[in-house]
Amino acid sequence: MRSVTSGARHLVSIADLDGSEIVRILDHGDRYWSLADEPIKKLTSLRGRTVINLFYENSTRTRTSFELAAKRLSAEAINISSSSASTSKGESLLDTGRNLQAMHPDAIVVRHSFGGAAAMLAKTASYAVINAGDGQHEHPTQALLDAATIRRHKGKVEGLEVAIVGDIQHSRVARSNILCLSKLGARVRLVAPMTLMPRGIELIGGDLTRERVRICHRLEEGLDGADVVMMLRVQHERFDGEAPRFPNTRELSRTFGLSERTLQFAKPDAIVMHPGPINRGVEVSPQVADGPRAVILQQVSWGVAIRMAILERAILGGPGGQPDA
Ligand code: NCD
Repeated sequence: MRSVTSGARHLVSIADLDGSEIVRILDHGDRYWSLADEPIKKLTSLRGRTVINLFYENSTRTRTSFELAAKRLSAEAINISSSSASTSKGESLLDTGRNLQAMHPDAIVVRHSFGGAAAMLAKTASYAVINAGDGQHEHPTQALLDAATIRRHKGKVEGLEVAIVGDIQHSRVARSNILCLSKLGARVRLVAPMTLMPRGIELIGGDLTRERVRICHRLEEGLDGADVVMMLRVQHERFDGEAPRFPNTRELSRTFGLSERTLQFAKPDAIVMHPGPINRGVEVSPQVADGPRAVILQQVSWGVAIRMAILERAILGGPGGQPDA
């Protein structure tokens, strides 16, 4: 999807990208992976550009890594959070977008509890819109950094068996990952009790995901032979007055939690992922979260590199970073 600013591109949904475009973003992110080891982590490709982080929901990793990514490319980064935004005074998201547009930003990174918020802004924006999570709909930059992490550890994504385990129902991370992993040629098992599995989720990407996604209601079956195990938190904040979906947390943890014992169902070299925030001892045991198979903190590191690539793509249309020297 292109915005009216020449060269600028929105990133609203993985559904808008094809496999080769995803690979281009991952390759672009690879360039920035090693920058973290440099004493001076600064490039100049976005000098003079402005990125606004407009976050209506809580965030630690995503907001910080977008801010760091913008700053490492020399852009001005401005943060607006729900408590300081004028929506708390009754302003609509679209009006906020129009007002921010009047200040001529180059990109707005938006997180909102409404699924469709980023698409709504993108419709009329003259700046690039990047979706940092819209309700239960999508979280495309998370899926891209997850794919980068998998590629780094496994050398490829195609042909891998990836198990996504936990609260699929309320997870935008799961939805973006199902699309991204399928487009990259992986097979995806979705593992959850019936009450946390949205009906028809395997059809989210039409025939492609119908062929590539398998639904499992038992952890042992879902993990059997998996190359990658991606655990999800129960997203209580999205339950919104619904009836309880499982008897209690201890029961859920016993039947769907990842421990050293249950991890043995997966392949011996399987990696363990989690988008964070982790609820230790609930969906993943501390031994596994801190163990040798976990790549959870590397996902966070990849987050900065991939978001640098995404900001350059959004504002410049593609790779444009030149070393400062
Ligand atoms: C996720 C989110 O906000 O969707 N976190 C993240 O961005 N790293 C997952 C979650 O909140 O459980």
